[in-house]
Amino acid sequence: MKEATNSNIKSESVFHFPVTTLSPLKRLRILVTGGAGFVGSNLVDRLMEQGHEVTVLDNMFTGSKSNIQHWISHPNFNLINHDVTDPIHLEVDRIFHLACPASPPHYMYNPIKTIKTSVMGTINMLGLAKRVRARILFTSTSEVYGDPTEHPQKETYWGHVNPIGPRACYDEGKRVGETMMYAYRDQAGVDVRVARIFNTFGPRMNPSDGRVVSNFIVQALQGRDLTVYGDGKATRSFQYVDDLVAGLMALMEGSYDRPVNIGNPDEYTIRQFAELIQKLTKTNSSIVHKPSTQDDPQQRRPDITVASRELAWRPKTSVKEGLRRTIHYFSHELEKSGEIKTVGPGEYAAVTKKRHEDRRVV
Ligand SMILES: NC(=O)c1ccc[n+]([C@@H]2O[C@H](COP(=O)([O-])OP(=O)(O)OC[C@H]3O[C@@H](n4cnc5c(N)ncnc54)[C@H](O)[C@@H]3O)[C@@H](O)[C@H]2O)c1
Repeated sequence: MKEATNSNIKSESVFHFPVTTLSPLKRLRILVTGGAGFVGSNLVDRLMEQGHEVTVLDNMFTGSKSNIQHWISHPNFNLINHDVTDPIHLEVDRIFHLACPASPPHYMYNPIKTIKTSVMGTINMLGLAKRVRARILFTSTSEVYGDPTEHPQKETYWGHVNPIGPRACYDEGKRVGETMMYAYRDQAGVDVRVARIFNTFGPRMNPSDGRVVSNFIVQALQGRDLTVYGDGKATRSFQYVDDLVAGLMALMEGSYDRPVNIGNPDEYTIRQFAELIQKLTKTNSSIVHKPSTQDDPQQRRPDITVASRELAWRPKTSVKEGLRRTIHYFSHELEKSGEIKTVGPGEYAAVTKKRHEDRRVV
């Protein structure tokens, strides 16, 4: 991925990364909700480079203008500060619907808002797709499989989700998001695509949003202990963001309209992953364990047979190579900011709970 460094941006109004010039017939008007976030901003880079007209719609809850600042004032680019829970009327050909906080501390911070974002936000985007006959892609998640009893997870697995646990606002929101996609397809003829994304990492991850990869790297680079929640035996499969972006674009432009897993089947225990980051960062930090969080899935690995058959897609970047690039990115971020604080998975949720209890006391 190309990073927008200050040296790249001579002046916001005169310098942009090169983009292909497309004929008007090939140039699509593409809406990316959540386009100022981690995945969205990487996707926007590729779409802009291909020469499309891209509109980012974002309320900046977890996203940041700095992620897309290198496109601002480009004639093909438009930024709308807007909340997807409110309807909006636009003329577009494609909708990549990503808007939703994705890390546990953020989605647990305000669970009601997270549910509204998934439910009302997706209804609004489906309504827009229906009205303007746009194709819409919804970024669902491996969390729809919950704490899986089937391993690896195929798209045919219905999942094992606690509907009233702390992760339910996100997991169930995404599940009903998928339900709505297929209701609009079957009842109203909307052209839908559904990506079930597995853990993704890379440049522009928010370093303070409590995700395991960013936490380990930022802790290691600052010589702090790497925090593992639980015994470290739970597994995850991590993919590099460029592979995810390629998968989303292939899904959007292909004809397959059932859910598709997009992830890297390379599976690590959390402990092994922490050790790999210790090695790659050459840190002297230790690994410490804290109590596990409620309903944390014990194993995760995508079965990507459907993606390889239907989209001719497979991840191309090894986890090690992806980590090297991400470590490079976070080193640079640390140089700029001096210090980065990490948070644990339940920390924002604990703040909300305390606020609620305090109110009850009053
Ligand atoms: N990164 C992963 O590992 C992963 C895994 C599975 C699924 N996903 C999905 O991919 C999408 C993008 O995830 P990400 O990692 O880039 O997260 P992110 O938090 O970096 O980006 C989400 C973006 O959505 C915006 N947003 C949130 N609520 C909004 C609202 N109500 N209105 C408008 N904008 C809003 C945020 O400001 C942010 O820019 C999400 O839908 C997420 O559920 C991501």
